Amino acid sequence: MKPNINYANLAESYLFSAVAKKAADYAAANPDKKVLKLSIGDVTLPLAPAVIAAMHEAVEEMGKKETFKGYGPEQGYPFLRESIKGYYARRGVTLNADEIFVSDGSKSDCGNILDIFAKENTVLVPDPVYPVYVDTNVMAGRKIVYAAATEENGFLPMPDENTNADIIYICSPNNPTGAAYTKEQLGKWVEYALRKNAVILYDAAYECFAEEGVARSIYEVEGAKKCAIELCSFSKTAGFTGTRCGYTVVPETLVYEGMSLRKMWLRRQTTKFNGVSYIVQKGAAAVFTEEGEKQIRENIDYYRENAKIIAACMEECGIPYTGGKNSPYIWLKCPNSKKSWEFFDDMLEKVQVVGTPGSGFGENGEGYFRLTAFGSRETTKEACARIVKWLKK
Ligand code: MLT
Repeated sequence: MKPNINYANLAESYLFSAVAKKAADYAAANPDKKVLKLSIGDVTLPLAPAVIAAMHEAVEEMGKKETFKGYGPEQGYPFLRESIKGYYARRGVTLNADEIFVSDGSKSDCGNILDIFAKENTVLVPDPVYPVYVDTNVMAGRKIVYAAATEENGFLPMPDENTNADIIYICSPNNPTGAAYTKEQLGKWVEYALRKNAVILYDAAYECFAEEGVARSIYEVEGAKKCAIELCSFSKTAGFTGTRCGYTVVPETLVYEGMSLRKMWLRRQTTKFNGVSYIVQKGAAAVFTEEGEKQIRENIDYYRENAKIIAACMEECGIPYTGGKNSPYIWLKCPNSKKSWEFFDDMLEKVQVVGTPGSGFGENGEGYFRLTAFGSRETTKEACARIVKWLKK
């Protein structure tokens, strides 16, 4: 047997595991100190009451012979796909329910979708970016080229005619920088992808944080259904990080060399995936009811307020930052030109606050640091108070 030697090209551990381990080691060595985590983008508010009620009902159904469910459709129950379709329709995007695939989250889909692409494709990834895009392609041995997201371009790289790519990743609102493309800017990417016969993998996991003037779906752009797959999640929208549910949209119009990507993805999912549990899908569908939408909106507003608190803390300390507006992440420049991991260690040591080093998201993230607004209000305020006390000039 020959192992997949591409794994030798990966960093020793996944970014968020490495951060969690460092924080846990520190906490174990310093039991008298309270460590506050603003690192991984994990939610802290409980599921909305409408979601819980729907899941309870589904549990009851599973306990009765007449309503019990075994295997469900691999692509997701029609009731949930119809609800997702309706959600897009309310934003002016028309989809066919057959183009929507329910999954256990967009992180899995981000990696799994690569099954339908040949190894020879060149992948274009913004730098810095959510590490899953890079790591999954390194595992597959694909060539990766980078589009630098820097202060100069507002962390929003635009297509470069001289770069050739077959698979293009876009995450907007962006993780980690919080920068978000307008519809016009996305239009340039769509034009480029169509010209290059490339496919865009559009990660919309943070769309619910997008404000006025910022695109929430790539399908708002004309022509996108001919070149883009959209991945989305209930994790950040409705607090499903521990419940697990997401969806991927693969339009029927995506046809390359005579092969339909929708049909290929369906074939892949029916072969390798048995669907998301009925109970979870019932809970997910409740997110799109009037009541559910109102309740999750309140939760999102709570996180937005946390983002404002962190932003105010940065301002008080005179630390340049972006994000926090269309996104739950604050992307800050490490004070005193510190390197990302140096600042991580310093902050942990001095004030016991954990964040995510920017360099973990790519070379251009070096010297930057990410804080999440998904913490509790108490943790956010306490962490900010400690940072202000430590860094305020
Ligand atoms: C992050 O912190 O970047 C994300 O929460 C990680 C994830 O969604 O997998």
